[in-house]
Amino acid sequence: MTMNKKLWAGRFTQPTDAFVEEFTASIAFDQRLYRYDIQGSTAHARMLARQGIISEQDRQIIVAGLATILAEIEAGHFTFSVAREDIHMNIEARLIELVGPVGGKLHTARSRNDQVALDVRLYLRDELDLIATQLQHLQQALIDQAEQHLDVIMPGFTHLQTAQPILFAHHMLAYYEMFNRDFDRLRDLRKRVNVMPLGAGALAGTTFPIDREWVAEQLGFAGVTRNSLDSVSDRDFAIEFCSAASLLMMHLSRLSEELILWSSADFNFIELSDAFCTGSSIMPQKKNPDVPELVRGKSGRVYGNLVNLLTLMKALPLAYNKDMQEDKEPLFDTIDTVRGSLRVFAEMIADMRVHADQMRQAAGRGFSTATDVADYLVRKGLPFRQAHEVVGKTVRYCVETGKDIPELSLDEFQQFSGQIEADIHDFVTLEASVNSRKATGGTAREAVEREIARARQTMAQESPATLEKCP
Ligand code: ARG
Repeated sequence: MTMNKKLWAGRFTQPTDAFVEEFTASIAFDQRLYRYDIQGSTAHARMLARQGIISEQDRQIIVAGLATILAEIEAGHFTFSVAREDIHMNIEARLIELVGPVGGKLHTARSRNDQVALDVRLYLRDELDLIATQLQHLQQALIDQAEQHLDVIMPGFTHLQTAQPILFAHHMLAYYEMFNRDFDRLRDLRKRVNVMPLGAGALAGTTFPIDREWVAEQLGFAGVTRNSLDSVSDRDFAIEFCSAASLLMMHLSRLSEELILWSSADFNFIELSDAFCTGSSIMPQKKNPDVPELVRGKSGRVYGNLVNLLTLMKALPLAYNKDMQEDKEPLFDTIDTVRGSLRVFAEMIADMRVHADQMRQAAGRGFSTATDVADYLVRKGLPFRQAHEVVGKTVRYCVETGKDIPELSLDEFQQFSGQIEADIHDFVTLEASVNSRKATGGTAREAVEREIARARQTMAQESPATLEKCP
């Protein structure tokens, strides 16, 4: 067979226009599915033989040929051809080249429509497990930073204005929680990826006595799809993944933003390792946080990919349509972007240096313990609204006199409320403020320590192994 003879050329009298050939080909990007295509084809060939649809001898020849092709591709000796359109036909045509017409039996009881659905599911399933593992590395780095800096107090912000002092560890664990939800989402959607579509044929099923359940078992799927039309036209699983990836990137973009702010000269809360920054070609003093900036920017392409896929699938009639070939680039780009972002982030967080003194100084500014004075008065019996008023006046006095709340003398405090006593000074330190928020989820050291222990326990239970085992 020549390179240019199409596997489907039978009913055609004219060759494909050269540009159309290139325009319709997907080999440039779907070649990354080669391993899964061969894995799926191997299982399919075995099933055909088990069912007596092809002979044992043919099965042997086909499976050996597929193994040769795999080796050729991995060694970089395989020539991908645009004339052979996509990864499925590149491999099948090469098989026939290698083993002769018997290679043409592989496509019995199968269509590229169910074949591509299988390949993408196999591929995404593997990538999901890799992403989940990478996500855990990042979570691990966040927990480690929290544990190593349990004494560090920083300002907590609302509206980016100093609000109340918090533990830096508490701030790290906030991101742990976000990524834990992302992990759960990946684990949950994996169940819908892990269903075997092969056997749907082009759209209606096949006339051959295939055993879909056996193929599913061989390929490690939890079950088989239940409707042939849906099997070849469903891309929900890819959209779901892009949606979970968008949330994950949104979380990374928020963390990016904070790292960028914190490493600015004005905040100076942290220092990112040189490996994650670059200099300026003109300003010698600059150390730019390129990695978090890029990750923040890359969230855009992942959201774009989600909208791309939703729009691609919108209003498509059943079953397969060529439009669906366009699902791959956004999916692949999402996977590449998420994996790259997680990879740099896990290392960058692990290497991040924390400037405890700067954080503490900042936490002391901005009257961050004002709420603690109000809460103090409430415990003395004042309704919260009145306490708020008293502290408002106290803060105004501080602004006018250039003092901070913990610096006020008892006399000064008592100008605003007779109910304030000498013990007020025990309540307005940064430590007292932080450590009084003990209820579950609060920033008190003991509460944060409990959450670190809990996070470590969750991480131990959620090993990627459990992910693979989940149905
Ligand atoms: N390259 C195609 C895709 O990615 C494979 C399926 C082609 N099926 C077809 N009937 N043309 O969608």
